[in-house]
Amino acid sequence: MHIKKRVLRTVILALIGVGLGAVFALVQNKSSAPSPSTPAGPLLNVAGVGGPYTLTDHTGKVRTEADFKNTYKLIYFGFTFCPAICPTELQKITIALNELGDDASKIQPLFISVDPERDTSAVLKNYVTLFHPRLIGMTGTQDQIDAVKKAYKVYSAKVPPSKGADADEYMVDHTSFIYFMSPDDQLIALFRTEDNADVVVEQVRRTLTQP
Ligand code: NI
Repeated sequence: MHIKKRVLRTVILALIGVGLGAVFALVQNKSSAPSPSTPAGPLLNVAGVGGPYTLTDHTGKVRTEADFKNTYKLIYFGFTFCPAICPTELQKITIALNELGDDASKIQPLFISVDPERDTSAVLKNYVTLFHPRLIGMTGTQDQIDAVKKAYKVYSAKVPPSKGADADEYMVDHTSFIYFMSPDDQLIALFRTEDNADVVVEQVRRTLTQP
């Protein structure tokens, strides 16, 4: 029964992921002929993603999008209790930044929690240092997180803990994309879980060397 539920949840999440991908693909292909297959690599030129936000970083400082106006950004939404996907994607950002060498200084890595209930600034502080010295973790009130999720078209939902488990031992289902944003907060590329660090590096280099 439990396994069945988990499978069902995975299927639903996958469908949501495909749905979101389709939405982005539609936006992407608006001015060209519809493509019958999903394009390989990151999704490019997606309009209408991003927007203003007010959050609190892992040191307790209030942060808004204006704090990152002069830099490119790699943004990931997740939660620190996530057992697999979030650490893998944050590790991917770390690997990409390491591969970028000096160019990494032009990129600000950001981690935004979709689990503000457990992810306090203090929790984020311990977490971000596991990945990159410049990674900034951000959390907020539920309303602030809901607003930034909406702006970035992020889906997440709390999964109630199994019977007998503590109330705070819950999981959070969520979409998993790395957002590559320009200094003026336009989405340049959206990396999927199947895009490895090399794909990220290649896209970042291409963007940085554009005239
Ligand atoms: Ni996760």
